[in-house]
Amino acid sequence: MSKILLKGGSIVSPRGVKRADILINGEKIVAVGRNLSAEAQTVDVGGKLIFPGFIDAHTHFDLEVSDTVTADDFDSGTKSAIAGGVTTVVDFATQNKGETLSDALNNWHIKAFGKSSCDYAFHMAISDWREDIKNELPAMFEQGVTSFKVYMIYDAMELNDRAIYELMKELKKYGGIVGCHCENSGIIGKLREEALARGETQPKHHPLTRPDFTEAEAVNRFLAIAKAADAPCIVVHLSTRLGYQEVLHARDEGVEVYAETCPQYLLLDDSVYDAPFDTASEYVCSPPLRKREDNKALWDALKTNNADTVSTDHCSFTVEQKRAGESDFTKIPNGMPGVETRAILLYTYGVKKHRISLQQMCAYLSENPARLYGMYPKKGVIKAGSDADLVIFEPRGHGKITADRCHSRCGYTPFEGVKTVGGVEQVYLRGKLVYRGGEIVLEHSGKYVTRDHFDL
Ligand code: URP
Ligand code: ZN
Ligand code: ZN
Repeated sequence: MSKILLKGGSIVSPRGVKRADILINGEKIVAVGRNLSAEAQTVDVGGKLIFPGFIDAHTHFDLEVSDTVTADDFDSGTKSAIAGGVTTVVDFATQNKGETLSDALNNWHIKAFGKSSCDYAFHMAISDWREDIKNELPAMFEQGVTSFKVYMIYDAMELNDRAIYELMKELKKYGGIVGCHCENSGIIGKLREEALARGETQPKHHPLTRPDFTEAEAVNRFLAIAKAADAPCIVVHLSTRLGYQEVLHARDEGVEVYAETCPQYLLLDDSVYDAPFDTASEYVCSPPLRKREDNKALWDALKTNNADTVSTDHCSFTVEQKRAGESDFTKIPNGMPGVETRAILLYTYGVKKHRISLQQMCAYLSENPARLYGMYPKKGVIKAGSDADLVIFEPRGHGKITADRCHSRCGYTPFEGVKTVGGVEQVYLRGKLVYRGGEIVLEHSGKYVTRDHFDL
């Protein structure tokens, strides 16, 4: 029987929480309503919250970077995802210098195909802006890639302001959108050089050489470019109060800017960098962890609906890989895991602490990313016709995050020992149960999702 009837759950959407049954036929939701009956396998979900499958629109699986490759590929990364209720990831197909966008997209299809336990889509990260790349953009849209990422920092990836402006103008023609990693490369490069010359080589020097104003300046410049191009844009992994103020200011000036933040910028601060190397290096990511006042400003952004999505920037490395920077913090591969712990953290420290509502949690994890990245209403909503991607969430009970229960291959979680409330109990991916009670029950059934234009 391919029909499933989920009975008695409370369905969460950005508009409210309501009791209703859900009828699934094959891969799709076919009905949502009170007292549904059907010849179907009936599952009692009384007392549970039901969310549209979560979307993590910022992961880096199987990424070659810093002379190594991320600990999680699409096998372990997407297992980690479904254990965290994530039914779709949007990873970054990344163009290396000299490559075409088709090369990059093909590479990422090869990395993900047959290995993914959740559905997946790709942004295109552009590192080499050339005339032939411009001509490739229509082909990207035809293949379902409608969002692009640029970096204002990292030698291998950095684009200058002119290239970002040209890209934005070009993407406007097709209804595409650009997300940007905003950090001022010139100042940070010099601060790092000066720190190393003074013998300051430890992880604690990582945040000191990437001060908050270097993010804010880059956000300001990126948004000035967007204004000049009259194009919509996204500030990804926003980490500072100052950067957030730039977003608000640009909106006042009429710029169509969307903002993404991540749990690490909401919940952790730079005091972790004082720990011994193996612990401190786990938290080395860019932008770095900030101050408590920054955490507070970003929670405020979520509370007031001034941020749009919470993603993870899952980019994991083992402690062994991090040791490449034991005597020079600039050589520590940047990034941390997060795809598995995002929802429980947002529930425990957002909803249960009254910083955001359940409805907002649903907007930030499901509906907004689906809309912003052109997957709505196939994804991100529980209604007839949508993919039956569902998270059955137990709102009660207490637990603790520990690495030994996580599926990432990096061997640690930045949230080790953190107390939690509730948890992801079951996950359906296009009508199939893929996760139940701590176990992955169906692996590698993820499919590529072609995306349309953004609509948020
Ligand atoms: O440290 C991080 N965030 N690494 C991943 C790449 C990026 O900048 O998003
Ligand atoms: Zn980035
Ligand atoms: Zn990233």
